[in-house]
Amino acid sequence: MSAARNEAVPDAPHPAVDEPGLAASIERARLAMTRAYAPYSRFRVGAALLTSDGRIVEGCNVENASYPVSLCAERAALGAAVSGGAREFAALAIVTDAAAPTPPCGMCRQALAEFAPTLPVVSVTLDGRQARWTLDELLASAFSPAWLDRK
Ligand code: THU
Repeated sequence: MSAARNEAVPDAPHPAVDEPGLAASIERARLAMTRAYAPYSRFRVGAALLTSDGRIVEGCNVENASYPVSLCAERAALGAAVSGGAREFAALAIVTDAAAPTPPCGMCRQALAEFAPTLPVVSVTLDGRQARWTLDELLASAFSPAWLDRK
């Protein structure tokens, strides 16, 4: 694997993404990050899902004094989107104030794969560094609904 998976990968072969929609999603994720409730880790995350019909639904991380109860920004966005009637997604934008663009955690990858197994994922830092992946790159051989089939 390239050493640059957490670096900008502008030339990587990825599916075409609605770039204006993605740019708007990044801005919404950036705004959502400012609303993060992260008093324990102090690691603020904003996420925004671009729906296939052009809506943008954002989420932030919501921590809890009982640490494992904490919710990631990506799953907050997914829950809000599905609750709002969206189940088809064109892209996910993530914004953190980390030094390098951060990928979604494993639990969020699994949650997203339920709805959008090949979702383009774009992560940006506050100073504009950017990395792109697809969800199937991030979560190979995902456990999908098909694996629930019994003989
Ligand atoms: N976090 C996210 O919101 N998304 C991720 O994909 C990784 C981690 C949050 C969880 C916790 O509130 C903080 O970042 C530190 O792990």
